[in-house]
Amino acid sequence: MEDIMRVLLIFATIEGQTREIADHIGRYLKDNGHEAVTIDATHPPKSLSVDDVDAVICAGPVHIGTFPAPLRRYVHAHVRELMARPGAFVTVSLTAAGDDQSEWEELREIAARFSEETGWWPVTVHHAAGALKYTEYDFFRKWMLRRIADKKDAPTDTAHDYEFTDWGALDMFLDGFLKDAPAVAGKV
Ligand SMILES: Cc1cc2nc3c(=O)[nH]c(=O)nc-3n(C[C@H](O)[C@H](O)[C@H](O)COP(=O)(O)O)c2cc1C
Repeated sequence: MEDIMRVLLIFATIEGQTREIADHIGRYLKDNGHEAVTIDATHPPKSLSVDDVDAVICAGPVHIGTFPAPLRRYVHAHVRELMARPGAFVTVSLTAAGDDQSEWEELREIAARFSEETGWWPVTVHHAAGALKYTEYDFFRKWMLRRIADKKDAPTDTAHDYEFTDWGALDMFLDGFLKDAPAVAGKV
């Protein structure tokens, strides 16, 4: 029987896909008997007690080679409490939709830079593929994303939206983390 855990889920999104991923993680936790306390780092609550939190999951999208500033700020500001629990990092990017090894290496460096900047070192990282929502982007974003997509061999037809997130792979990652976290908890 798996331990029931109360999980702090911190996320930030710019275009909405990481919110969908955070919602999915929240549902997954509940469906598996755990409890989720969700925080949007862009609008964090004024006060939050993390005393009774057993584990932390942080989810953030890569935008121009980095994560949203509110997420970096929030994690940095609470790093002591966060590091006292086992943590999982879910990055969301277009890179993770492809298989270019140098792009993947860069993605791992981007995630490591987040840890260096914030001081938060998760025990495990999952690189989830995000989405291209061309029909929702303004002119500038559409132009920029088309260039990024072209470089990554992703679709460039801006008349359509594309979702690359592999929900099954995300569930498998969560399953592994939730099973391992209680054992790790005493060691962090
Ligand atoms: C302005 C912009 C810049 C982006 N830059 C990158 C990037 O540098 N590397 C990458 O892999 N994906 C990049 N992407 C793709 C996003 O990571 C992907 O669309 C993701 O789903 C966005 O998450 P969000 O909807 O939660 O903001 C970028 C997307 C946008 C809109």
